[in-house]
Amino acid sequence: MTRVPFFAADLFGHDRAALLKTVYAVGTCDDQKFILGEHTARFEHELRRRLGAADVVACSSGTSALTLVLAAMGVGPGDEVVVPAFGCAPLAATVVGAGARPVFADIDPVTMTADPAAAESLVTVRTKAVMPAHMFSLMADMPRFRELADRLGLWLVEDSALAQGGTLGGRPAGRWGDAGVYSFVQVKTFGMPGEGGVVITDDPALAAHVRMLRNHGQDGTQRFHHHRVGYNSRFDEVMAAFQLHRLAGLDDRLSRRAEIASYFSRRFAPLTERGIVAPPVGGDGRFHYVYTVLTEQRDALAAHLAAHDIATHVYYPRPLPAQPAFARYAPPGATWPVAESAARRTLSLPLYPQLADVEVERIADTVCAFAHSSPQEDP
Ligand SMILES: Cc1ncc(COP(=O)(O)O)c(C=O)c1O
Repeated sequence: MTRVPFFAADLFGHDRAALLKTVYAVGTCDDQKFILGEHTARFEHELRRRLGAADVVACSSGTSALTLVLAAMGVGPGDEVVVPAFGCAPLAATVVGAGARPVFADIDPVTMTADPAAAESLVTVRTKAVMPAHMFSLMADMPRFRELADRLGLWLVEDSALAQGGTLGGRPAGRWGDAGVYSFVQVKTFGMPGEGGVVITDDPALAAHVRMLRNHGQDGTQRFHHHRVGYNSRFDEVMAAFQLHRLAGLDDRLSRRAEIASYFSRRFAPLTERGIVAPPVGGDGRFHYVYTVLTEQRDALAAHLAAHDIATHVYYPRPLPAQPAFARYAPPGATWPVAESAARRTLSLPLYPQLADVEVERIADTVCAFAHSSPQEDP
């Protein structure tokens, strides 16, 4: 029996020849431009077109994209940013890095994304922005977050790092916020063999500011004239040329992910009564990064899959305010019951286009066998 890794063992196998050709072409080009050159400009242009956004600014990672956005919005000391209590570290770390305070909102029990009502209850005079994040395969409730931000006069930062390919109400992930971000770290749905990200925005002033901040506060017309204190968050030309090549196959890869997710959903629908809850089905607001189930028997299910050579991940074993790095931002006595329950129960299964049908069936069979062999529990 071959092992099914959590992420594909050969992430870019089909495109290896193109990658090597790209390295050679950029490496031998006359102008020896390795960052922020014509490939990066074309890549930004293609994403702008695909997303229908006014601007897309390529930068060095998804984390850096959040950092640039918060800086461009003027988030700093004395400010608060409402973030989900359950999610990845950059949600809180970038706010702390800006000198502001992350305020943790509990999540919705079904989507596992920030609960808009919980977020609103935490808004104070110090709140400058709300920053929901899309999780696993479900977009946050962006219409409610958009309405909330507009009504309360807050910036809306959309952490869509994982959500490429998702749309909600016809609007792509990344386009609901005043700014959205994508990450291209290798395992993401539009990952690449390196680090990179983008900021997506329809606000020309915000875009110009982000563009300046990604290259030490220069405006691109005059070198060594620094209008702002910026960052080094530049995009690599080899990666830009490679992503342009990969863009052509992106929709097919996304469709394959959707097909696998929908097979899992069919197989797992009857397992709810046996205590394994699959993500909600339905197209709107869905994307397919990883397939995450909820079960009180999470550790036993993970062990069962591992015994059958199927790797899984626990995203995330603790809510953000329970992480030592962010515990000082947790108000004494505060609790996040839904985030705590999610941290105890989530288990993510492999979901990538390279999975063969037999592997997909094997994953589903193994989960179903576990469900039918273990004692029933209340969902
Ligand atoms: C929701 C979310 N936001 C932001 C990031 C940061 O992206 P990067 O790893 O490119 O810095 C990640 C990374 O995995 C993420 O999952």
